[in-house]
Amino acid sequence: PRIAVLASGRGSNLQAVIDAIAAGTLAGEIVGVYSDKPGAVALQRVPEALRWSAEAKRFPSREAFDAELADAVAASRPDWVLCAGYLRILGDAFVQRFRGRTINIHPSLLPKFRGLRTHARAIEEGEQEHGASVHFVIPELDAGALIAQAVVPIHSGDTADLLAERVLSVEHPLLLAVMRLATLGRLAEHGATVSLDGH
Ligand code: GRF
Repeated sequence: PRIAVLASGRGSNLQAVIDAIAAGTLAGEIVGVYSDKPGAVALQRVPEALRWSAEAKRFPSREAFDAELADAVAASRPDWVLCAGYLRILGDAFVQRFRGRTINIHPSLLPKFRGLRTHARAIEEGEQEHGASVHFVIPELDAGALIAQAVVPIHSGDTADLLAERVLSVEHPLLLAVMRLATLGRLAEHGATVSLDGH
């Protein structure tokens, strides 16, 4: 299966996917890495021929940027589009075009803490547990059908950075478990729910 990855930052989740493919524990091929940040470290993790980026603020509108991104992604003919630390909201047109094959990893136990600053907010709210979720992407932000979650404890004295590190350590195996189901053809979106037999 062909996997396109959208990333804005350091790309440790992308690296986990690259490593699993190299180790033979994930069947698939990275066909492109796409970023809204030309300086993103994530881009450096793949050969130059697989990199696409554009500075979003050079575009007249969100729709204009998204249209260009969507065309670039479509050109790599992906079976799956993986948002791994992609920090820009995807517009409806993009989401509809790749609906049912776009997956996001989000650092919270959704439906809690959609959006940004999830670790700091979890601490501020006095939560005892936190974690990460993988879900299908729909137009509403961080609201698509949940596929899987991983939970970590929040310790007293935790900072947002410490908690982020703890969450990240479970994000990588969580994402790989989901990507294995996806690449085996075992994962399908049915509206607000998910099936794990691919039907
Ligand atoms: C991860 O916590 C991801 O869930 C979030 O941003 C972080 C990105 O990490 N949306 P990386 O770029 O994959 O290292």
